[in-house]
Formats: sequence, structure tokens, C-alpha cells
Amino acid sequence: MTRILAIANQKGGVGKTTTAINLATALAIAEQRVLVVDMDPQGNLTSGVGLKGQAAAAGTVYQALMAVTPVPEPSAFVLETRIKGLWLIPADRNLTGAELELVSLPNRERRLRDFLERLRDRYDFVLVDSPPSLGLLTLNALVAADAVLIPLNCEYFALEGLADLVATLRRVRAALNPSLDIAGVLMTMYDERTNLGQQVARDIREFFQDRVFSTVIPRNIRLGEAPSHGLPVILYDVKSRGAEAYLALARELLAREAAAAAAPEPHHG
Ligand SMILES: Nc1ncnc2c1ncn2[C@@H]1O[C@H](COP(=O)(O)OP(=O)(O)O)[C@@H](O)[C@H]1O
Ligand SMILES: [Mg+2]
Repeated sequence: MTRILAIANQKGGVGKTTTAINLATALAIAEQRVLVVDMDPQGNLTSGVGLKGQAAAAGTVYQALMAVTPVPEPSAFVLETRIKGLWLIPADRNLTGAELELVSLPNRERRLRDFLERLRDRYDFVLVDSPPSLGLLTLNALVAADAVLIPLNCEYFALEGLADLVATLRRVRAALNPSLDIAGVLMTMYDERTNLGQQVARDIREFFQDRVFSTVIPRNIRLGEAPSHGLPVILYDVKSRGAEAYLALARELLAREAAAAAAPEPHHG
């Protein structure tokens, strides 16, 4: 069964794109078929997998969002990456305009969901990277998703602004995507040497409890360097702590998914 995960947090610089690139790569290495979708006009995901400035035959995610669904051949929006098992729907600067252009289109919050409908079955995982805002692009990611993965950087203001995100999730569930789940909260940029990092990590666990992944992503210079080479950290320096952490995260996610699939259906009502 395909899982579509939106990676969301309206704060910038918390590790959304880094997580999209490296979790996707780690899942592909674990022999999953993975599609990443770049929903940020900055296109950092697209350049981070080495495909900056490239568009598929039918264009980028911008054209996909503007297209009338059902799109006859949605795979014409998909690019191969150099990683076996990893494909990309790229973004470019055109996407900046989409936030406004979407407003007047029918089904403006459901366009990514409708577009992915006929594509999703070809993959085990679809990871959607989102921009640092709670606008229509992020909303499209949340409406398309089965679950949201929330990266939180272990710094002083980590929990600030979360109320807005939680309220948005509630709104999306109430009106647009009732089955949206929380895949997990991921602590990023953790520095175990500082009391502050430890304190923030404790606060996050207290607030989100077992929603928090056991795997923690450390602050690691290789994670910062890899994108400038257009490489996931696992290809840039597989022995780095950053690479190890994202490989561990993929294992944890796969174990969680397997456990959820084996569990009996929850009773409603
Ligand atoms: N664990 C980490 N350790 C060190 N640098 C990181 C780590 N995670 C991300 N970075 C760097 O921090 C910056 C912001 O990360 P990014 O993933 O782009 O955040 P977002 O997508 O949430 O804006 C980038 O330059 C990235 O390379
Ligand atoms: Mg980003």
C-alpha cells in the first residue's frame, strides 16, 4: 500500500527539505519505490537531488497543479534521479505564482491530491516537501497526504508557532482530509552537547509523547554540505552521522508502517 507523507512545518530552516531528500534516499536504498514532490518554489529539493533547473516532459509541479485532472499521462511530470528507486516531480520559480493563481481555480486545495491519484499506486512512498508557510501549497500537500511528518529543530523556539500548525491540521481534517494522520514528529539539528538541546528535546517529547520518532537527527556538517554537491548525504558521505541517522529513520518508519499494517483495524464509534 502506498503511503503519501507530507513534510510540513511553516517555519523555515527546520530540516524539511533535508528530511525529504535523505529519508527518500534511505527508503529507496531499502528497496522501496519512492517519489519525492517538490512543493517549495525555492526548489531546494530539486537541486538537492542534483536536478536543479530540470523539468520533466510535461513540465514541473507547477504545470501539474495547473493541469486539468485527470491528467492523461501523469508520469510525464516525473524525472528519474541518479538514485535507483527514487523519482522526482521538480519545482522551479514558476511555483511562486501558484500560491496566488490557485486561489481562483476549482478544487484549489485538492489539486495535488487529484493529480497524484493515478500516480500513487506506482510507488511505495510519496514524500511531499512543503514551503515555509501555511498557504495553499502546504494545504495541497496536507490534503494529498495520508500522514504528516513534522520536523522540529531542537532550538529555543522549536515549539513556538506549533499551535498554528496543529490548528491547520485540525482544519484540514475537518473539511478536506478526515483521515490525515501524524506520521511522526522528527527532532532535527540536535546537539547533545548543549543543555539547551537536551531541554528542548525533553519538551518536545513531553508535548508529543509517542508521536516523536526515537531516531533523532543530529546537527551534522555533512548534512549541510551535501546539497551543494547535488547529493543526498548517503551518497556524499555514507559514514557521516547524518547519513546514519536518516538510514535509521527509514528503518524506524518501515517498522512503524509494518506494525500499523499488522494491527487490527481500529474501531470507530
Ligand atoms: N541536521 C542538520 N545538521 C546540519 N545542518 C542541517 C541539518 N539539517 C538541515 N541542515 C541545513 O540547514 C539548512 C535548513 O535546512 P532545510 O532542510 O533546508 O530546512 P527547511 O526545508 O525546513 O527550510 C540547510 O542549509 C540544510 O543544509
Ligand atoms: Mg525547504
